[in-house]
Amino acid sequence: MQKLEVFGANKLKGQINISGSKNASLPILAATLLSSKKVNLKNLPKVKDIETMINLLQSLGSKIRFKKKKLIINNSTQNKNFASYSLVKTMRAGILVLGPLLAKFGKAKVSLPGGCAIGTRPIDIHLKAFSKLGVKYNITQGYVHASTPKGLVGSKIRFPKISVGATENLIIAASLAKGTTILSNCAIEPEIKDLVNFLNKIGCKIKWVGKRKIKIDGVNQINETTYSVMFDRIEAGTYLVAAAATEGNLKIKNIIPKIIKTEIDTLRKIGTKIVVKKNEVNVIGKKIIKSINIKTAPYPGFPTDLQAQLMVLLCKANKKSLIKEDIFENRFMHVAELNRMGAQISINGNRAIIQGNINFAAAELMATDLRASVSLILAALIANGKSVINRIYHLDRGYENIEKKLKKIGARIRRIK
Ligand code: EPZ
Repeated sequence: MQKLEVFGANKLKGQINISGSKNASLPILAATLLSSKKVNLKNLPKVKDIETMINLLQSLGSKIRFKKKKLIINNSTQNKNFASYSLVKTMRAGILVLGPLLAKFGKAKVSLPGGCAIGTRPIDIHLKAFSKLGVKYNITQGYVHASTPKGLVGSKIRFPKISVGATENLIIAASLAKGTTILSNCAIEPEIKDLVNFLNKIGCKIKWVGKRKIKIDGVNQINETTYSVMFDRIEAGTYLVAAAATEGNLKIKNIIPKIIKTEIDTLRKIGTKIVVKKNEVNVIGKKIIKSINIKTAPYPGFPTDLQAQLMVLLCKANKKSLIKEDIFENRFMHVAELNRMGAQISINGNRAIIQGNINFAAAELMATDLRASVSLILAALIANGKSVINRIYHLDRGYENIEKKLKKIGARIRRIK
């Protein structure tokens, strides 16, 4: 098992190039199944989850190769519609192949995602919405067996709760359905907008007709395309917080600042200086960090994927802060590890109360999930002494070359094989 060794404390200085978005790449990769033509994708991040999704597509018969930073996907002979547990269990986004497989073949057998450290990750919202497009399904032995006897037929669907994955799955499926589909109460994360841009580029007819309302006219003609995915706003947000927490001075490049407006506003409220330019922000961390009370929410609210990182920063605030986790039921796995480093965080249901003025002490730590792992690195960067972080395979799922990027901006960090 690999681990990371981090020597703190030191300030992060210099510039970071943000990679492509994992959470835009995953639905776009799944959506390539709609096409029997060639699709070229650029700016995909080199992270484990993307590798897993590529393996899943190859298990379905996609021919995929990498050439000069471009992923070339050829689905002309893609003919399988069985997504196995072995691939879907390690990455819940595997369920996103259900929509395109139903659209293309009219039937599919896809493993249920199963739970993970942050929650049970149910797919009831996906399945109920699919049945409104004419899908019949049953769940046996951990698999969804779904079919559309008369093909997918467009319909009006209102999601009972905002769900990123359900919105993505239904947009993809409705793209080839007969007639028009209107989806209401959609998630509107930037990654979903990126998926819609990709689908329209391959010939789909999708239009936002309201803040959380989208209209999809089914098509049966798909074109070849080359598409470059958007930047990873959670990676960008993670380095924003890292600069603030280490009183550093970071230039974060290849981003669209307005997409991370909430994160920028939140850090400015805490007292961090942020200079916004066209495709970059310059973050200057300040000694005084003001406490705040915040809750996670669907976009454009504060992202749940940055909650663990913000918590580390708030341990250094001048007073007590509160974070309310309103998206996932168990996303405080990092708290126990941070408390072992001297933090004083107490949990009451989905609320975490964070005492300020903490000096972290280095320690041996255990990563539990993707975003929790990176919060342990941030804490190790501000603690005095050597910390060791175990089970860093969680990290590699979503952060490209994290120790290389951190080393380049002054962190003393190394991977121990
Ligand atoms: C996506 O997960 C992201 N993953 C998550 O990022 C992110 O935290 C989450 O959206 C919220 O923004 C990808 O994009 C690959 P949801 P997803 O459906 O689609 C409940 C990361 O760190 N729910 O919006 O699974 C669900 O249990 C990952 O990169 C149902 O009850 O999130 C959760 O409590 C972690 N029934 C809430 O809704 C359903 O059918 C939000 O889930 C679906 C979801």
